[in-house]
Amino acid sequence: MVTIKLYPTLDEKVAVLTGAARGIGKAVSDALIENNCKVVIGDILEKEGQEVVDAYNEKAGLKVAAFIRTDVTKYSDNIALFKLAETEFGGVDIALMNAGIVTGADSMFTPLDDATENRIIDVNAAAMIKGTKVALLHMAKRGGGSIVLVSSMAGIYSAPNLASYNASKHAVVGYTRSFQLMPSICNVRVNALCPFWIETELTAKFCNSDYEKFPYAKVISRCRYATMECLVEGFMTLTTDESRNTQTLKVLPDGLEIEQAPVVPDSFSGSADRETLAQFIPAAIAVGKHELAEALARYEQQR
Ligand SMILES: NC(=O)c1ccc[n+]([C@@H]2O[C@H](COP(=O)([O-])OP(=O)(O)OC[C@H]3O[C@@H](n4cnc5c(N)ncnc54)[C@H](O)[C@@H]3O)[C@@H](O)[C@H]2O)c1
Repeated sequence: MVTIKLYPTLDEKVAVLTGAARGIGKAVSDALIENNCKVVIGDILEKEGQEVVDAYNEKAGLKVAAFIRTDVTKYSDNIALFKLAETEFGGVDIALMNAGIVTGADSMFTPLDDATENRIIDVNAAAMIKGTKVALLHMAKRGGGSIVLVSSMAGIYSAPNLASYNASKHAVVGYTRSFQLMPSICNVRVNALCPFWIETELTAKFCNSDYEKFPYAKVISRCRYATMECLVEGFMTLTTDESRNTQTLKVLPDGLEIEQAPVVPDSFSGSADRETLAQFIPAAIAVGKHELAEALARYEQQR
């Protein structure tokens, strides 16, 4: 049972969560509901997702949650998910991009199969980009917001036997670090959570693997886990602390820890003349604002 802290600034906020029919996503969703937020859940698990929101609505005695079947790899599904939040609850303030998988593509000697290889990158990496781009438009319209992407410790370190998973989660960390200017463009912050092992169906799948074929499973089943409580606190910290942007926050058995971004080498930007660098940022913000206005106009026309 996760003890849920209360954060007054979350009162009446609207959150969209992917992969929240169970596991980490559901734990965050439970905490948001306890904090008097409205939640909209998108997942491929229709029965489980619907049951989660039915339980919230029944307990509240009014509509505080909605579910829509969402395959996060499809732009059309991401758009329908965020639009549902708008029609049901008036807009989107918070997003958790969490849906993720492990697949048989994780060994380096699996069959040379396009579909398996593409699937893990599509769900764990490309879908984070698609969901974030849709979220940005909805939050920009709203005047701002906070997006948390779920990467993994495998997005920082590369565990053996998890090659494709490592690649997909590293992509999420790199993507998250690209949003330095977004608060100035549309008041949206983007951060990532990098959990260590946490007990869910995903880790159970690892632990139930055949040790002969996947010796790393023994390591996973024996090492210390991070708690779901710590994960939820990490999400709440990134969401409510307005000074946080482009951060990767590790969720460890001993608590939360920021993973510092690598320092840019002098040869990359230090050698450019200072005036050029000083001009770059306002120019890039102006371009970003112009592109956002065009993107919003396109998005409205598509409706
Ligand atoms: N549990 C851990 O130890 C751990 C550690 C690091 C990172 N993570 C990451 O946390 C996230 C959640 O994992 P979890 O442990 O709760 O696993 P989980 O398997 O319990 O939950 C994942 C959820 O994502 C949903 N999902 C999968 N593919 C989807 C798709 N295409 N579209 C929509 N929904 C989809 C599933 O139906 C499920 O509800 C994942 O991104 C995972 O990689 C987990």
